[in-house]
Amino acid sequence: DDTRIARISSAIRVIPDFPKPGILFQDITTLLLDPRAFRDTIDLFVERYKDKNISVVAGIEARGFIFGPPIALAIGAKFVPMRKPKKLPGEVISEEYSLEYGTDVMEMHVGAVQAGERALIVDDLIATGGTLCAAIRLLGNAENFNFYINMRSGVACLLILHIIFTTHPNNGDLFNDHYLEQD
Ligand code: PRP
Ligand code: MG
Repeated sequence: DDTRIARISSAIRVIPDFPKPGILFQDITTLLLDPRAFRDTIDLFVERYKDKNISVVAGIEARGFIFGPPIALAIGAKFVPMRKPKKLPGEVISEEYSLEYGTDVMEMHVGAVQAGERALIVDDLIATGGTLCAAIRLLGNAENFNFYINMRSGVACLLILHIIFTTHPNNGDLFNDHYLEQD
């Protein structure tokens, strides 16, 4: 796993001051150019989640649409897109959230998930946690879920949760009732 994670890490390009000064942009398009690193990324998620009884992979637009579907196919789960506003044609539920740079709205089709299903939320990264929390709220509004939250390592997980709890208390509260899986 360490070899694969090292290969994945080195395939992600880091661009300082994009899209704004002070932001260290993690560019996964370079990972997509490396078929072995892309395959390793999907395999690691599949190995981790294939026996977890997950029936829904919820992918967050846009980058969760790249990684979510291959994971969903491999673990035999359905894929549910969590989209930017006014893109989904059916009846939707919406959640507004704040980003490192700006605010946004996330939408999901009503009826895409059923009571008692287990969801895996997939995205490329967590910064403030606002996007992930909006996805959790969307699923939570829809049904009563168990949540698995992907982290590269337990230390990163605790650090990120600490940051979310201390700097984003409203977001942090959301995690209290939910199950967090750590390495
Ligand atoms: C980025 C990233 C995550 C989110 C993380 O998406 O892909 O989804 O920000 O930030 P947060 O933890 O502070 O919420 P972004 O909304 O920039 O757009 P994109 O994925 O559609 O390119
Ligand atoms: Mg995103």
